[in-house]
Amino acid sequence: MHPDVEKVLIDRMTIDEKVRELGGIISRDYAGKELLMVGILKGAVVFMADLIRNMNIDVRIDFMAVSSYGASNKSTGEVRILKDLDKSVEQRHVLIIEDIVDTGLTLSYLLEILKARDPAGVHICTLLDKPSRREVNVPVDYNGFVIPDEFVVGYGLDYNEKYRHLPEICVLKKEIYQSG
Ligand code: IMP
Ligand code: MG
Repeated sequence: MHPDVEKVLIDRMTIDEKVRELGGIISRDYAGKELLMVGILKGAVVFMADLIRNMNIDVRIDFMAVSSYGASNKSTGEVRILKDLDKSVEQRHVLIIEDIVDTGLTLSYLLEILKARDPAGVHICTLLDKPSRREVNVPVDYNGFVIPDEFVVGYGLDYNEKYRHLPEICVLKKEIYQSG
């Protein structure tokens, strides 16, 4: 285990099983439709890479990168687009792939942006959900795990751009935040 990690919250096998299950459900729900999966950089990259390999329908992928205004890791609800989609989503069935829904501010903003572009539909798939921290309601259509209010890293999720490579979803030691 990484020395900065307090404990493993969700292990590899549990993640694998969940991603397989989600891949199956999404494949069934979108059968016969042209699905465009939109990964939100960078946190969703690992999840999305595993998810698409558990799909048995044709999918296209694209990515968006967004950043909250302000320096802290607290969301303000104002979101800046750092990288937009390569192609139009008009008439496409869009599925947003996120790592975690926390306050919900990032996704509610993204949802508005994408809905304004006249897609056939926009839905949300997130690996993790922290409902206790929600500030705005977001319609999560596919959720991997509901987790308690703890800061997690690994499997794509970071703290100050670190720990994304850890294969499991882990709770960081408190002193890592406190020392900044
Ligand atoms: P929201 O706008 O508060 O829902 O912010 C969601 C974003 O905050 C996620 O995409 C993550 O980048 C980040 N985030 C929220 N909670 C965590 C966490 O526990 N670990 C790592 N990143 C987190
Ligand atoms: Mg993120």
